[in-house]
Parts: sequence; structure tokens; C-alpha cells
Amino acid sequence: MNVRTALVLLALALATIFALVCVLLTRGRAPGACPHQPPAQEDPDDGQSLVFADLTPAELAQVVRYLQGHLGLRLVDAARANPSDNCIASVELQVPAKAEALRFLDGAGARPPREALAVLYLGDQPDPNVTEYVVGPLPTPAYHRDVTVRRYGGKVPYHRRPTLAVEYKQLAGFLKSQVFPAAPSFMRQVMEYDGGSLAALTAAPRGFQSGDRITWFALFQNVSGFFVHPLGLEVLVDHSSLDTSRWAVSRVFYNGQYYGDMVQLESAYMQGRISVEKVRRAPRDGDFSSMKPRAPSAALFPLQYEPQGPRYSVRNNHVLYQAWSFAFGMSVSTGLHLFDIRHKGERVAYEISVQEALSVYGSNCPGGMSTRYMDGSFGIGHYTSPLVRGVDCPYLATYVDVHFLAHSQVPRVSKSALCIFEQNLGSPLRRHYSNLESLYYGGLVNSALVIRSIATVGNYDYVWDFIFYQNGAIEGKVQATGYASSSFFHGDGLRYGNRVWEHTLGTIHTHFINYKVDLDVGGRSESFFTACHYSGKPRCSGALPPVCKVPLNCCRRYSQKQAGCWFPSCERGSETSQLPALLPDPEPRLLQNALEKSCVKAQTRSPAREGSPVPAAGLSKTAAQQQWGIPHMGCLDPHPRLVWDLQGKREIIPWPEVRMKTEVPKLT
Ligand SMILES: *[C@@H]1O[C@H](CO)[C@@H](O)[C@H](O)[C@H]1NC(C)=O
Ligand SMILES: *[C@@H]1O[C@H](CO)[C@@H](O)[C@H](O)[C@H]1NC(C)=O
Repeated sequence: MNVRTALVLLALALATIFALVCVLLTRGRAPGACPHQPPAQEDPDDGQSLVFADLTPAELAQVVRYLQGHLGLRLVDAARANPSDNCIASVELQVPAKAEALRFLDGAGARPPREALAVLYLGDQPDPNVTEYVVGPLPTPAYHRDVTVRRYGGKVPYHRRPTLAVEYKQLAGFLKSQVFPAAPSFMRQVMEYDGGSLAALTAAPRGFQSGDRITWFALFQNVSGFFVHPLGLEVLVDHSSLDTSRWAVSRVFYNGQYYGDMVQLESAYMQGRISVEKVRRAPRDGDFSSMKPRAPSAALFPLQYEPQGPRYSVRNNHVLYQAWSFAFGMSVSTGLHLFDIRHKGERVAYEISVQEALSVYGSNCPGGMSTRYMDGSFGIGHYTSPLVRGVDCPYLATYVDVHFLAHSQVPRVSKSALCIFEQNLGSPLRRHYSNLESLYYGGLVNSALVIRSIATVGNYDYVWDFIFYQNGAIEGKVQATGYASSSFFHGDGLRYGNRVWEHTLGTIHTHFINYKVDLDVGGRSESFFTACHYSGKPRCSGALPPVCKVPLNCCRRYSQKQAGCWFPSCERGSETSQLPALLPDPEPRLLQNALEKSCVKAQTRSPAREGSPVPAAGLSKTAAQQQWGIPHMGCLDPHPRLVWDLQGKREIIPWPEVRMKTEVPKLT
């Protein structure tokens, strides 16, 4: 049989298969051709939602080039910067101010200029600081504005900068070259250290008072899932100096005992004054912490199938699904955010976004007991991970790459880091099986659209979902997976957790999750308000400039307009309302943006009383519970990009309990 005959036979075989498939697919249908795809849903968006689109790699690179050429500062690549250098810590979209964006979206205003927000660590100057610049207009930047003082009410001290990847590398180098060699026998005999067998996990915040930059590092066996292989050794490193050669160990902890430094630990060990608890060496795959399946895989999992292709469309950053539409983006620090969420063309929310994931730990080891991770400072968007088809999201989901610039001057991509899919919920949305009088059945398939990203911040993997239901509900949902964080089990450890392995204490902790929910049901002047629940009394800190005073009349105006709203300062008849230093921003656009950024928003049905958090409608109960189970969080971290030390002065200034969402008081 020559090649030509073979090809002819192959073509015939393919034609037969095609015909058979057509016949099978059209069985029970009107006779005719193969079914066509459903007509793609008409997307009327017209590129409008691009105002919320993440910066492209080209735009990120443009901003870096502009900053390098126009600041008059020597910038070092953040991937290899020393603390004493200047560098660009991150660049991302500067979301336009709401009023401006709405004027554009609703057809009354021009497209807002496309701008970037660049966070710079400026260590190479006599008085180092953290500075935020707004850079625009893209794609060809021509201006930059220092917005730091406006946003944060003053200088942002350098010690407060979140730790760059390169600083962790420098800290690892410090442990390896300076710390471990100071206790050679202990490290070799007890830790079985061979130069690469230990992994260090950072605690946070870095210190106990403002100005500190001092971090507990707990040592683990460097195996897969090291988070649950603690060895009992923890080291407190003071890395506040901009000169890395002046970093120092301030304390050492081993198996329940504190030591001044590694030399002390070594001599105590040599003198036999240490109670040694040696941990059996785990295999590289971590043994019990291995992610390998423990049982042979059963039959294949069920798959979802879209017989006529997806019923939603994704164009750029715009999603259209039945009555729903929204724009999406990813913030380096705060993660997944949605804008301009509409139902039947009508905007119901301007923004729904993840803001912060905080976890507070307890332990009888110093690292664990002092840990309050604020994941926004590590970067919820920065650590968004690629999604695996068929496991992280359904096989047929739409996958979108996320581009970002953080801890390096080169844009990076997290491939397929966002997924969008429609999920058949497997139960009827409504149904009735009539068996009285007339006999009939009516039922509707229930399905929902999901947009998801998964951030792996250290040991935890947070699965962030926003879900759009056919009945008009939106759900914000987060699931936590990954590894538990752990401490070395010793002494009264059981008071602080559960023993999960011979030497491993799974430590007690609480997760706090924050969303920003800016509902705009029926327009912007609704009776929704911004609520920051704070259990203490509001007060102005002496550290704040006096401009935090706001004339009483403007409070009154709001109290009257928003009868029933809770504005305690005014109700008490005080002269001033304690608003944050941000308020006197002369530029309403920025001010509003800052306010909108700063707090969780909620809808109220009844006037809230002091101390009683209001329920959030629109979000699912789970999300609302998560949102309001956490008294302080709406206010605690208004600037997750920059805030680090919880104990610092500025961070504990309570924000006002209530803020109006729709308008910002005009300051006279
Ligand atoms: C921070 O440093 C930059 C660069 O030297 C400077 O322009 C800016 O004014 C400083 N910010 C504050 C608040 O001092
Ligand atoms: C941990 O082990 C991995 C894999 O062998 C290695 O690449 C890494 O450098 C080790 N980490 C440390 C801190 O030694």
C-alpha cells in the first residue's frame, strides 16, 4: 500500500467518524447539521473596563525606565539591593479615583489617565524612607507625584518597609555564615546541620515597638513541607542596620530555654547543661508531610463538560456571564479585586476586593507566640500561584496569566494564575413536581460563575473565590489549605495547640480575612455606609498633626442626611471628629481613593449600635461572618502595603468607627 492510498483511507475513516459523531450528537433533535456553538454573548463593554486592567509587562517596564531616568536617584534592582540602596519594591496599577472612573464609565467624562503606583525603598540617603509615586500617563510616562505624605500623613519610616526577597536571602546568608558557625558542636551533633539541611521560617511582626526591625527565625528540617518539621532552635536576628555586616543575634531559644547568643548555647551544650531533644532526620520528601498521594489513585474523577462551549465570555479583564458583568484585576499587595459589578447592566457594586489575610498565633516558642502575619505585607497578589488544570480549577476553566512587578525591576508572570469557570451546582435552582390536581414538573438547572486565584503565602494557600449566582447573589469565599504552621513541641505545649507529630505542635491560631465591599445598589447615594468597628474609644494621637480635626457642621450634615447612622463623635457633641490624618487631603480625588481603600464597607438595614458590628448583605454569610468576626481589622491596616509593626504608634491609632462612603466631607 503506497502513501497515497494510506492517506485516502485515513481521510475516509475521518469522514466516517465525523459523520457518526454528527449523527450521535443530533439524535433526538430536529434533523439537520451538527449543532452550532451558542452565539457568543454580545459584550457591550467596549474596552471600558480596561481602566481597571493590571499593567502589562510593557507598561511595567516603561514605569521602571521612567523612574530610573527621572528621579535623580541611583536605583538598584530590588532583586539584589542592599538595605542601604534605593530600589523599586513594586509597581502596579494606580486604580483611578472612583468619581473619575464612574464619570467615564457612565459616559460623562473622559477616560482617566492610566497611572501606575510605584513603591520605592529609598535607603541610599541620610534620612531613608519609603516613598510612593504615582506615575503617568501610560504608556509613555511624563510625570510622577510623591503621594506618600498625603496618603500616610507623614513620612513612612524606612524600618517599616516589608521585607524583600533579597533581604530574606541576606538573612539566610547571615544565619549560615555568622550564626550557625558560632555553635559548631551543637549545630553538627544536635541539629545535624550540613550546610543545607535547615530551613528558616520568619515570624512577624519584626519587633515589639515602633522602630524595631528584629525577627525571630525558627529552624526546621529542610524537607518537603518543612513547616511541620521544627527542630526546637529559634534565633532572634536584629537586622535593623542598613549595613548587613552589623546584623546581630539578640537572643537564642532552644527547647524551652533562652540563651544570649549562639556562643552561650554552644558552651551550655558542651557543659552538658542543655536538655537535648534530638529529632530523627526526615527523608527529603518529608515523610508525613509529603504531598504524595498515600493510596493508589482510584478511577478518574468526574469532569464537568460544556456541551456547547462556555456560556460566559472573558475579554481582556472583562467578564460577561448571563445577567452579570464585572472587571477584574490583581493587586500585588491585596490580591484579587473586582470592579464595576453589574447585574442586568445596572451597577450593584463598584468594588469587591480582597484586602488582607491576617493570622494570629499562640505558642510556647518565641517565634510562634509573637507571630501575627499580615499577608498583605508579603503580597497576596505577589504570591498568586499558577493554577493546575483539573485540580485547582476545573479542566475547562478559562485561565488568565497575571503579570506583576515586585521585589525585582523585571516584570514577572504567574502563568494561569486566575481562572474563571461556570460550575454546575448539581442541585435545582428551583423545581416542583406536581402530583396534586395537574401533573407536571418544572425545574431549573443551578449553576454559578466562579473567578478564582490562589495565593501561597508561606505555609498557607488561600483559595480566593468570588461566585456569581443566577439568583443575583454574590459570594465571597476563601478556603485555606497548604500546611499548618508549627512550633517545636515542649513543656506545656498542649496549652497552645495540638501535637501533630512527635516533636511538632500544630499551633493555635485565628485567621482574619478582610474584604472591601463597596456596594452601589440603586446609585451611589444609598444608605450604605462604611463602618470601621473598633471596640475602644476613638482618640487622636498626639503624633498626628492637628489637621485631624473636622468641623462639627460637616459631621452634622452627615448625621442628618444619614439619619440612623452611627457617628459617635458627633452624637457626643464633641468639637471634633477623630478622623485620620489622611482626611485633610486637599485633593478630593486622592482623599476619596484613600478612604475607599482603607476600610471594609458594609450595608446596614438597621442603625448600628456601638460595639455591634453590622451584618453585610450581599456577601454570603460565611464571608460576612469572617468580615465581622474580626473587630479591628477593617481599620487596623489601612495601608497594608506599608504597615508592618503592629506595635508602632501609627498603627494603633484607631480609625473612626464610621465613615461615609458616598461623599467625603468638604473641609473648610
Ligand atoms: C523621602 O525621600 C525622598 C527622596 O529623597 C524625598 O524626595 C522625600 O521628600 C522624602 N519624604 C519625606 C516625607 O521626607
Ligand atoms: C534546602 O534544600 C533545597 C533542596 O535541596 C536547597 O535548594 C536549598 O538551598 C536548601 N535551603 C537551605 C536554606 O539550605
